[in-house]
Parts: sequence; C-alpha cells; structure tokens
Amino acid sequence: MIDYNKIIQKYDTPLFVYDISKLEERVNYLKSKFNKEYNMVYAVKANTFVIKEIDPLVERFEICSPGEFEICEKLKISRNKMVISGVNKDKIFIENLISNYDDILKYTIESYNQFLLLDELSNKFNKKIHVLIRLSSGNQFGVSEEDFIKIIGENKNLIIDGIEYFSGTQKHSLKIIEKELDHLKEFINNIELNYNIKIEEVEYGPGLPVFYFQDNEFDEDTYLDELNKIIGKFNEKVVSLEIGRSMVASCGSYLTKVVDLKENKNGNFVILDGGINHLVYYGQTMAMKIPFYEIIPKREVEEVTYNLCGSLCTTNDYLVKNIKINKLMLNDVFVFKNTGAYSSTEGIALFLSRDLPKIILVKDEKEVVVRDNNKTSLINYPNYDMEEVWKD
Ligand SMILES: Cc1ncc(COP(=O)(O)O)c(C=O)c1O
Repeated sequence: MIDYNKIIQKYDTPLFVYDISKLEERVNYLKSKFNKEYNMVYAVKANTFVIKEIDPLVERFEICSPGEFEICEKLKISRNKMVISGVNKDKIFIENLISNYDDILKYTIESYNQFLLLDELSNKFNKKIHVLIRLSSGNQFGVSEEDFIKIIGENKNLIIDGIEYFSGTQKHSLKIIEKELDHLKEFINNIELNYNIKIEEVEYGPGLPVFYFQDNEFDEDTYLDELNKIIGKFNEKVVSLEIGRSMVASCGSYLTKVVDLKENKNGNFVILDGGINHLVYYGQTMAMKIPFYEIIPKREVEEVTYNLCGSLCTTNDYLVKNIKINKLMLNDVFVFKNTGAYSSTEGIALFLSRDLPKIILVKDEKEVVVRDNNKTSLINYPNYDMEEVWKD
C-alpha cells in the first residue's frame, strides 16, 4: 500500500503515481486467468512509463508509432519482442527498421498499401519479414476480408504468420466477443481451406474492460474465465493477447490538490490544480459518475455537495459534479484511482500551457521520478526570432 501522506509531503501536485507492486500483481493475475500457453502482448500506448517494469512479465510489445518505437529502443526492449503495428506506417521509418534491424519480431499489415510497402522493402533488402494481417472490424483499422484474400494471393516475399484482430476497448459483452470470434474462426477456416495458407497465429486484442465508477458492478473472475473458454476455440493456433488498459489502469493514481473553494447560486465549486487535461476516465460524460477516490487528510466533519473542477479556462473542466463529501479545506488532496491507463496521455495536456504533472513509480517503499513536471509553455511557445523574421 502506498503511503500517500508521505508522497504528498515530498512531491507537488498534480502528480501521477504508478504502484509497481500492484502492476506486477495485476499482470500476474491476468496471466493466471488465461491459458498459460498464450503470449501476453502489452499495448504500450496504454502507458509508456511502465514498459520496463512490464517487460519481464510479457512476451511482446505492440508498438504503433515511431515515437513508441523510440521509447522502447531507449528502454532497451529486445527487438524480438516488438510487433510494429498501427496505421500510417511511415515509409522512412519502416525502411530504416527493415534495412537496419533483422531482429524485429513482426509487423502488422493494416492496408493493401502497407502490404505493398512491406513486400517491396522485404524484396529490396532481401529480408524475411514476418507479418500479421490485421482484419478490420469495419472501422479505419485493418483490411477488409476481400483485401485480406487479395494480399495472400499476391504475396511473394512476406512470411504471413497469422491474423491480428482488435475491435475496440472496454468490451463488456461476452456475447458480442463470442460472435466476433466465431466469425473470425470461420474466416480463418475458409481461407485455410480455399487459399492454401496456414494461419499459425491469432493475435487478439480482447479490449478487456475496466470499471472506473462506483456504481459499476463487475464479476471479473467469472468474466475472464468465460472469455478464456471463448478464446479456447483457437487453441490449435498460437494465441497472443494484446492488452493495454486492463494491465495498467489499476496501478495508477492521480493526485490533485484543492487550490480554491467558492460558492454561487449554482452550488459549491472546488478548484483543483489538475483537471481534464490529465484525468480521463473512459465513459465519464459530463462528470456525472463518481470514480474511485480518497481524500487526504481524512476528516470527520459535516458533508457538503461539491462540483470538482480543474484549472483550465473552459466550462468543460469538471472532474465530478454534485459529489457529497466531507467539508473540504484548501490543500486537501484528492487521490483519483485507476488512472494508470491512457489518462496521462489522453487528456488535453497542452491546453492553457500549464505544467505537466510529475510521474513517479513506487515500489517497496522506494520511489523514482520518471517524468518531471515539464513546462508545456516551452512546447506552446512560437520559437522564432520575432525581431528578425518579418523584417523586409
Ligand atoms: C490494435 C490494438 N491492440 C490493443 C489495444 C489495447 O486495447 P485495451 O487498452 O483496450 O486493452 C489497442 C488500443 O487501442 C489497439 O488499437
């Protein structure tokens, strides 16, 4: 258990705290719920600050941009654990990878043009490239069934290991998942039968749900047992599970301090030093739901109904509306839980040029700052010689 009192005394808010013991426990729990033969793939987009800590626990990393690759390289993640995925595979980036590195595990194919690019580069550099073709669920990602078949028909140079499928995050309905996977299995059977190809591997993103709000009820153990049974239909294949949110959400807390308190005809307003620029809960619309939180220090006083707002100049900057809690004082700190996935990157962090929150990792009483509260004013600054540039 993290001693937030100690953390608050040492670090300014707003602040993200990632609890590494909790993270390890969580990943091990997820692993224990699935067939142990399955590869665990961490989708690094969910949180790039804990990649190194997750490394010993997973078989692969799903990397979707040159930036994510750069981060993994700097962290010395083994390239034969990297799956280079995502839309917009920049030619210069991919050419650089293919020409310089033989040890990248795999690439995904997200379009017919990506197929042409990988095929061309594989031929040009005479390199054996392993690929997974991503089948679309009907959005901008992956290829249609028709393009999938066209690709396998035209392929000369690439080693097609299998198929990738991800149809969205926060998937609550096992019925919908089962229907999708039945269709996927039927599609695989058809192409194996008709196109003389063996699909050895299914890399599947189940979009495991995280329950962020106090009114949610979720029997996760049963859900995962059922899901494991459904995925079991692919057991004769190599199964790889791409997971982001569910691995990392629970390890994160976001700490933000009360910097002002006021009342008007519409209620009591709390101004916190961090708002929607850093705190993003999936499904939190109009701040109507109550996330999991604690307040430090705890006080036994009368209850008051508050609106919790951040420090941005927008009326959208509500974290929670109409929450009844013990009367607050300036400098009280909210600890918002389950903020380890996406929250530190999905917010509108550059708006209003406020400094970024520090990020610290905590494990066994030790902590380390992994990102300082960098100044966004440097990023939002027009960096040119204003005396010189418009002169005739
Ligand atoms: C291809 C792919 N795989 C896996 C994930 C991770 O999803 P989640 O965070 O819901 O586990 C994503 C998220 O966008 C994705 O695009």
